[in-house]
Amino acid sequence: MPVPSTKVIAALEKQADHELLASQNYLAMSYWCEVHHHTGFAGFFKKQAGEELAHANKILKHLADRDVVPKIGAVAAPAGNFKALIETAQAAFDFERANTAGIHAAYEVAVAEKDYPAQVLLHWFISEQVEEEAWSDKLLVKTREAGCAGALMNLDRHLEKILGGDAAGS
Ligand SMILES: [Fe+2]
Ligand SMILES: [Fe+2]
Repeated sequence: MPVPSTKVIAALEKQADHELLASQNYLAMSYWCEVHHHTGFAGFFKKQAGEELAHANKILKHLADRDVVPKIGAVAAPAGNFKALIETAQAAFDFERANTAGIHAAYEVAVAEKDYPAQVLLHWFISEQVEEEAWSDKLLVKTREAGCAGALMNLDRHLEKILGGDAAGS
C-alpha cells in the first residue's frame, strides 16, 4: 500500500488531535457532572471520552498501518468550570459539530489526493458523526426542557434510554 501524501498525513493527524481534544473535554465534563451529582451525565460523558480516544486511535492506527509514525499534537486544557448542566450539553453539541467539520475537511483532502484508503476510513467517521450529532442534539434539547429538579433527575437517571440508539456509540 502506498504511503499517504504529506497533505493526507497532516489532515489525518489534525483530525486525530481533534478527537483527543474532544476526549479530554468529555472527561472534564464527566467530572464536573460527578461533583454536581449528575451521575447519569457523568457516566455518559465518561463513555464518550473513551469513544473519542478510540476514534483518535482508529486514525493513528491507519497511519501506522501505512508505515507512518503519526505525530500527536499538544491538546489544549479543557474548560472545566461550567456554571450549569446545560453548558455541558451545549459543549457536547458544539464539539460534535466541530468534529464533523474537521472530518469533512480531512475527507476533502483525501479526495483531492486520490487517497482511497483514507477516504474509506473517513466514510466510517462521516456516518459516525451523523449519530453523534443526533444524540448531542437530543441531549441539548432534553436538558433545556428539563426545567425543574424532578425533570432533571429523571433525565439524569434515564439519560441513555432517553437519547436512544443514537447514543449507543461505537
Ligand atoms: Fe469522534
Ligand atoms: Fe463524538
